[in-house]
Amino acid sequence: MKRTLFRALAGVFPALAAGSLAAQTPGAPAATRARVDSLLSRMTLEEKVGQMTQVTVGVVAARDSPPYDSILLDPEKLRDAVVTHHAGSILNVLGGALSVQGWHDAIRRIQDVATKETRLGIPVLYGIDFVHGADYARGGTIFPQNLGMAATFDTALARREGEITGDEAYASGLAWNFAPVLDVGRQPLWPRFYETFGEDPYLAAEMGRHEVMGMQRSGHVAATLKHYLGYGNPRSGHDRTPAYMTVREVRESYLPPFAAAVRAGARTVMVNSADIDGEPLHASRYWLTDVLRGELGFQGVIVTDWADITNLHTRHHVAPTLRDAVRMSVQAGIDVSMTPNDYQFYDDLLQLVREGTIPESRIDESVRRILTLKAELGLLDAPYPDPEAAARFGTAESAAVARQAARESITLLRNDGGVLPLRRDARILVTGPAASSLTALNGGWTYTWQGADAAQLPDAPRTLLQAMLKRGRDVRYVGGSTFTDPIDIVAAANAAREVDVAVVAVGEDAYAETPGNIDDLDLPEAQLRLVQAIQATGKPVVLVLVEGRPRIVSRVADGARGIVMAYWPGMQGGEAIADVLFGDWNPGGKLPFTYPRHANALMTYDHRYTEEINAAGTDRPGPGGWDPQWEFGTGLSYTTFAYAGLELGAAEIGPDGRLPVRVTVTNTGTRAGQETVLLFTRQRYASLSPPVRRLRGFQKVSLQPGESRTVAFTLSADDLRYVGRDGKPVLEPGEFDVMVGGLTGTFRVTGASAAPAAGGGR
Ligand code: BGC
Repeated sequence: MKRTLFRALAGVFPALAAGSLAAQTPGAPAATRARVDSLLSRMTLEEKVGQMTQVTVGVVAARDSPPYDSILLDPEKLRDAVVTHHAGSILNVLGGALSVQGWHDAIRRIQDVATKETRLGIPVLYGIDFVHGADYARGGTIFPQNLGMAATFDTALARREGEITGDEAYASGLAWNFAPVLDVGRQPLWPRFYETFGEDPYLAAEMGRHEVMGMQRSGHVAATLKHYLGYGNPRSGHDRTPAYMTVREVRESYLPPFAAAVRAGARTVMVNSADIDGEPLHASRYWLTDVLRGELGFQGVIVTDWADITNLHTRHHVAPTLRDAVRMSVQAGIDVSMTPNDYQFYDDLLQLVREGTIPESRIDESVRRILTLKAELGLLDAPYPDPEAAARFGTAESAAVARQAARESITLLRNDGGVLPLRRDARILVTGPAASSLTALNGGWTYTWQGADAAQLPDAPRTLLQAMLKRGRDVRYVGGSTFTDPIDIVAAANAAREVDVAVVAVGEDAYAETPGNIDDLDLPEAQLRLVQAIQATGKPVVLVLVEGRPRIVSRVADGARGIVMAYWPGMQGGEAIADVLFGDWNPGGKLPFTYPRHANALMTYDHRYTEEINAAGTDRPGPGGWDPQWEFGTGLSYTTFAYAGLELGAAEIGPDGRLPVRVTVTNTGTRAGQETVLLFTRQRYASLSPPVRRLRGFQKVSLQPGESRTVAFTLSADDLRYVGRDGKPVLEPGEFDVMVGGLTGTFRVTGASAAPAAGGGR
C-alpha cells in the first residue's frame, strides 16, 4: 500500500523514483524497539506528556545568566522543567552564541538532572538552529545562507555543509538541529527568502536531501525539515502570514523537497507557523498525518514551531480555548510542542487524556517516536558531550570549505566590456554600506537571532573592504551611505572622480523572521542615490549586491558596468567576493530565483505562457508581461561556454519509458571555469495550462580552456508528470521539449498513465 502511494509521489518528483520505500523509512531495529517499549511500559502519563514538551532555555536559566558565551542555569527551574514537568527537550540560546565549553557545561548540567534525578533517567534532547553552519557556537564554521548555497548548484558542497554542521553540532554536545529549511521561496518579499534554496522545488529537493544526508551521517545528530508546508509563499510577503494556494499547487511546488528529504532519512520535521487557505498547518490532520505520514511514509518526530499551538487560539482563531488548541494539534499529528515558555501544553494535554478526549494510545505513539529518536542518536547510552569530538569543531579545513561555498555561490550578472576582473593597476574606490559590514555578509541566525549585533561577531573574518585592502591594490574607501540613510554621498562621488573604477556594495543588513518584514522591495532610496551619484561621474561602476532577497535595482542596473550577486555569503564572504572581483576565482554561480525588475511583477520562472503576454499583446519580454531583471539560472563567467550536439536517445517514449539526453559543453574562452548545465522540460499541451519550463536536471562541470565534456541525463516518465486537478500526479501523452543551454529537442510521450492515487486529492 505504502509503496503504491510512494510511487505516486515519485511521479510528482523524480528524485523519489530510485529505490524502494522500505529502504528509506527508518524502521528502528528490533533491539531499539524492545528498549523503547520497555521504557514506555514503565512511564506514567505525566512522564509521557513531559517527553512531548519542549521549553526554551530561558525557562531554566538564572535571571542573571550572561546572555552569551555560557548559560547560568537555575537549579530549581531546571528541576521544575525536567523533574517536575518531565520536559523531554530544551532549545535555543539566551541572547546568542555560546562557546563550545559553554555548550558543554550547560548540556552536562541538564543531563545530570535528567539522568540522575528523574525516575527513569531519560536524557534531554537539546535543539538548536544551526541553519547556515554552526551559527550559534563561537568559532563555528559559517556557510552562505541557503539561497547562496543554492546558487552553487553543487550538491557535493551541500553535503559537505551538512557534514560539517552536523559534526560541529555534535562537537558542541547538541543532537538536534533545526535545519535544513526546505521551504520553497516563491515570494521574494518574505523575510525568510534567504533561508530557502530559492524558487525551484527540484533544486531545493536536491540541495536539501544532500544536506540532510551529510548532517545525519554520523548518526549522532538529527536534521529537521522545516517548515512543513507551504510557508514560502505568504500573500502579504510578511512572515507567518497566510498562503492562498490550492492543494494542487502545494503538492506541485512545495511538497517535493520534503518528500525527497524524508526519503533521504530525515529524522524530524518542523511545522509551518502559518496557514494555507485558512487552515493552520499545526491543526491540519490532512497535511501532518494523511500526507506526511501516510503518503510520504515519515516515521520520525514532528515538532511544532515556536508557540504555535498557543497561536491556534491567540492568532489563528481556530481554537476557542488554549486547551482546544492542544487537542487539535495533537489530533492533527504533532509529537513535540515547542511550547516554549510555559507548561500550559503539558497541563492541558494531561487533562485531555485524563478526561478521555485524547486516548493514551495516541500519546504512546508520539512518545515511542521521541524515545526511538533519543535511542538512535545514542543519547540513552551517551547523554553527555563527547570531548573528543571537539577536535572537529571550527577547523581550518572547514573554513576552507565554507570559503569555497561562498566563491561558488557568487553570481556574475553583468560584465560589460570586461570591467571584471578589476585590472591589476586600477585605482579602485570602494563605497556602500555592505562594504564594511560583517553582519551583512552573514545575515540572520548568526551568533544572535537577528544576526545584526556586530559586537558579537568574531574579529578575525574580514569585511569586503578589509579583504580588498589586504590584496596590495590601490583601494580607497568612502562610506557613502548606511543601509537606510545617506552619510557622505557627495564625498563618495568626488572620490570616484579620482579613480578608474568604483565598487559599490549595497543591499541589506542582517534580519530574521518578522523583524525583517518590508512593504517595498526596492533597494532603499539612500543606497540608490549613492549608486546614481557615482554613476553620474561617468566612472565605471561595479555593483555588489549583498542581500537576503532580491531588492529591486532597476533604476541603477543599466548604468552599472558590472553586477555581482553575493547573497549573504557568510563569514568567508568578504574574501570570496574579493576573489571574484580580483579574478582569483572565476565565478560560476547561477541565480536560484527570478530577480524581479518591477516591484509588483513577482513571477517565477515556471510561470504559465499567458503570463508572458504584455500590454502590446506580444510574448516578447516587456513591462506588463514577462520582464524580470534577471532570469532564474542567470550567471556569467570570465570564460565562455558553448553548447552543441543536444541528442535525445529516442523520438518517442512510453508511459514507463526513459529518455537518455546528451549535450556537449565546451569552454570556448581563455580561463578555466565552472558551468552548471541546466535541463528544463516543457509539455506543449496539457489538460491544465502547463508551465513554460520546469527544471528537471542539473550537472556542474569544470572545464579548462578549449576542453569539452559530454553531459548525460536520463529523463524518466516520472519527470514529466505534473499534479493534476485532483491533486494526483498525471502523465499526459503528447509532445515535449527538452531545453538545455539554448538548444531544444523534441520527443513524444505515447500512451497515458495517471499515477496511482497519492492519498487522494482534496
Ligand atoms: C523559527 C524556527 C526555529 C525556531 C526555534 C522559530 O521562530 O520559525 O525556524 O527553528 O524558532 O528557534
